[in-house]
Amino acid sequence: PPFFLVLGNPIEHSKSPLIHSLFAKQTGIEHVYDKALVPLEHFDDFTLNFFKQAGKGANVTVPFKEQAFRLVDDHTNSALAAGAVNTIIKTKEGKLLGDNTDGYGLLCDLNEKKWIAEGSRILLLGAGGAAKGTILPLLEYNTKVSIFNRTYQKAIEMVERFKGSTYYQSDFGELNVLSLEDLTAEQSAFDIIINATASSLSSEVLKLPGNVFNSQTAFYDMFYAKTDTAFLAYYRDKGCNHLADGLGMLVYQAALAFKAWHGVMPDAKQVLAQVKNVL
Ligand code: ATR
Repeated sequence: PPFFLVLGNPIEHSKSPLIHSLFAKQTGIEHVYDKALVPLEHFDDFTLNFFKQAGKGANVTVPFKEQAFRLVDDHTNSALAAGAVNTIIKTKEGKLLGDNTDGYGLLCDLNEKKWIAEGSRILLLGAGGAAKGTILPLLEYNTKVSIFNRTYQKAIEMVERFKGSTYYQSDFGELNVLSLEDLTAEQSAFDIIINATASSLSSEVLKLPGNVFNSQTAFYDMFYAKTDTAFLAYYRDKGCNHLADGLGMLVYQAALAFKAWHGVMPDAKQVLAQVKNVL
């Protein structure tokens, strides 16, 4: 059977081997999917060697996604937009194609939860790698995305880069940046608020002014944990009940990688229920 790896450092706690073994069982498509602890200085030679030997595809996780972007021969638009690669596909010609399924994984999860529609007003928090990767899928879906970041200038630069890119199209949804002042002056609550900052890693919470959300607003934290993240706990306490962490996004990004390799989209919802049980 074809051979796949998830490449990272650290990698011990990666859920990807479990998720991909469940996909294989579910679809009847045989593949071997393992995790690899890649030495920090040896990502390029490790990866090239894997593909020279048995490798058919790989997932890439922290801290190698940007390095993978530089290593591959070709990029999909979503990889270009993210500036990062989480999925490598070995093509028939033997080239390495870099894709990024994180943003579409988030979109699939929002869809599955029935939280997103054309025209949805979305507040995206952050302007780092995680935020960057979600803009293209959300705008293709014709939503209105407002970005708020602790460092305003970083958000401005991210949006300018996006609007100046080859994959930006005039029929996309709307994209703008809000300052703290703009946020405070916002007239109505957002439909969805997505936390794409690294603040959950330090259990800090980005405390938003009360005018930007109400009890109908859906809160999505791209991080996941056994219990509520600090971000979700804070807004639950404010009376919000539409809350989700990034576990669904994790399973959907894996499902999209599986589809890129095997041409079959697994039932991610079923696997998500199984993965929840082993967190
Ligand atoms: P990643 O690739 O995970 O997105 P990153 O590129 O380092 O990581 O970006 C981190 C993002 O989280 C940034 O938007 C950062 O805000 P700044 O641009 O102001 O640095 C944001 N961030 C990190 N810690 C935060 C905190 N405690 N509160 C608010 N935003 C935070």
